Amino acid sequence: MMVGSLRKESFNRSVANVIVRELQRRDWQTEFAVLDDLPLMNQDIEFPTPTNVMRLREQVKTADALWIVSPEYNEMIPGVLKNALDWLSRPTKAGVFGAPDFIQDFPVVLSGAGGRKGAKVGLAHLMTLTKFMGMRPLPDSVGLRVPMAAFQTNRFDLDGDQKAAIIAQIAQLQSAVK
Ligand code: FNR
Repeated sequence: MMVGSLRKESFNRSVANVIVRELQRRDWQTEFAVLDDLPLMNQDIEFPTPTNVMRLREQVKTADALWIVSPEYNEMIPGVLKNALDWLSRPTKAGVFGAPDFIQDFPVVLSGAGGRKGAKVGLAHLMTLTKFMGMRPLPDSVGLRVPMAAFQTNRFDLDGDQKAAIIAQIAQLQSAVK
């Protein structure tokens, strides 16, 4: 799981927690990627690979799929998430060009929670980006509209339709990695 918000009470993290519970009920193991201690992408520090970048790569290499749950920031991909994906897109050895093999055709699921548009514009950018990187995003991303009341209570509970959309993504993921 990769969450595009670092906020302690992040709605997207709460959605990710719901997804984790649903995956666990179906015997999937999950791990969260840590994004807040990754260095900012800088080609001067790519080699030797920074330890935290190595950790992220290993997590992806040993996983069957990547599930990204992210808000949109100004209808774009939050910087921390873009930074992590930029690191994943880079060669793992000096002097080698192009994205590394381990992300080629790698299944990605895209969900997000946000305001009026339910983070859908940011998710469309994530679709374009992950395809560009050679990954294999599932065709149906799910944008979830956070109701106004949730911004007051700091609590976002998925409604029935939203939960169903997430469950449908799990089914698609199961087919995609079979
Ligand atoms: C936002 N927010 C936001 N919401 C939205 O629906 N569309 C947008 O373009 C933006 N832009 C935006 C930019 C920046 C810099 C911030 C910090 C926030 C609001 C955002 O969706 C809201 O704060 C969510 O609660 C963020 O997700 P988490 O942190 O709750 O997971």
